[in-house]
Amino acid sequence: MATNRTFTMIKPDAVGNGHIGAILNDIIAAGFKIVAMKYTHLTEKSAGDFYAIHKERPFFGELVEFMTSGPIVAAILEKENAVEDFRKLIGSTDPKKAEEGTIRNKYADSIEANAVHGSDSDENAAIEGDFFFSKLERF
Ligand code: RTP
Ligand code: MG
Repeated sequence: MATNRTFTMIKPDAVGNGHIGAILNDIIAAGFKIVAMKYTHLTEKSAGDFYAIHKERPFFGELVEFMTSGPIVAAILEKENAVEDFRKLIGSTDPKKAEEGTIRNKYADSIEANAVHGSDSDENAAIEGDFFFSKLERF
């Protein structure tokens, strides 16, 4: 059953390029409510655990290195049809293929440094939200 929640990270490239405010603005303007949010820096262990699903992929080492290269913003977002609508808002993994006006089209540099993460299913949204936030940190 759809939970109407998704999980996002503003990745180190977008934080470093000064896009936190603009990206949050786009997210809120698209109708998402912020349920939880934190500014943090992933360690090799926490990034590896978060992306464990990609452990066998050839880009796993680079992905962990990139995701630990600077601080990130993690957040749980709420909206009707949250997972699907958020994936539409961020656009394709590869910013060159991301539609005009999407967050990755506007703020991402490459397939790896692609500005934001968005959960790909309700199940993963719940797992990923639980990875970063306790019940007491959700409002
Ligand atoms: P995300 O999980 O971050 O929202 O991205 P996604 O679903 O669009 O893409 P996914 O296949 O889950 O890949 C996770 C992240 O790994 C990096 N990646 N690098 N070098 C490469 O070919 C490659 N492919 C993926 C990206 O940072 C991608 O967002
Ligand atoms: Mg993914």
